[in-house]
Amino acid sequence: MPEYSNLTLEVQDRIAVLSVNRPDKLNALNEQTIRELGQAFEEIAGRDDVGGVILTGVGEKAFVAGADIAELSKMGPVDGIEVSRLGQQVFRRIELSRKPVIAAVNGFALGGGCELALACHLRIASENAQFGLPEVKLGIIPGYGGTLRLPRIVGKGRALELMLTAQFIKADEAYRIGLANRVVPQAELMDTARKTLSTILANGPIAVGLAIECATRGMEMSVDDGLALESNLFGLLAATSDMREGMQAFLEKRKAEFTGR
Ligand code: COA
Repeated sequence: MPEYSNLTLEVQDRIAVLSVNRPDKLNALNEQTIRELGQAFEEIAGRDDVGGVILTGVGEKAFVAGADIAELSKMGPVDGIEVSRLGQQVFRRIELSRKPVIAAVNGFALGGGCELALACHLRIASENAQFGLPEVKLGIIPGYGGTLRLPRIVGKGRALELMLTAQFIKADEAYRIGLANRVVPQAELMDTARKTLSTILANGPIAVGLAIECATRGMEMSVDDGLALESNLFGLLAATSDMREGMQAFLEKRKAEFTGR
């Protein structure tokens, strides 16, 4: 299994807790960290002992305070395209992960850190969390998919307000606009994320993965194409043992035992 310098990965009860581990730089994403995130999600996709992921940052101050500005400050235009593409590819892999990914946002989620949270399927924030896309303050724009994902999650008006003002919003405002699914005290953050993920993992894993795929790809297609995808995947699920088990368990008034087949 790969070794990570800037991440920690712990697996317990089918839940992987993946933490960005550069607390002295508020977990800013340098190139190596982004590459390691890509490797970690590849590892997770292939591990049978992992059903879902909680993504967080080490420490009590930051989830991820953005791309590493010290590194970005040296880039030229050709590097800029590469930097952006690398982050986009890794974040896209997270967004399309068939294993559910919850961002446990434990502090600043700024710039690339906010974009990372946006690529996750759910966002649970601690009360001290702050979100923002301050890139225009640095003379750049969000380059890891944030300009597309934020409007899809909170609507274009609110997304542009965040992107153009570069202002940070607190957790309660993030909840109000639908950017955070829930807000809890920091001491309860990981427990809440674990409980939420356990609730998801009790459901049919193939169905969960395909629901992610339909909701994600469906928003990127015409309604007709999205509906065709939905009906085809709905039909595919009818071929699984998990569907028989889920329905049989309901009829027999017992808990379903899914096998992911
Ligand atoms: N890239 C590189 N280093 C970063 C960073 C980033 N995005 N965010 C924070 N750091 C570093 C700081 O340079 C500092 O390092 P140092 O101790 O070696 O000087 C360390 O993390 C602590 O940050 P500091 O700014 O001292 O903490 P603070 O509590 O005063 O402020 C923030 C916190 C989040 C408001 C501030 O760090 C900030 O504005 N960060 C940049 C946010 C941003 O623009 N992100 C988008 C990048 S595209």
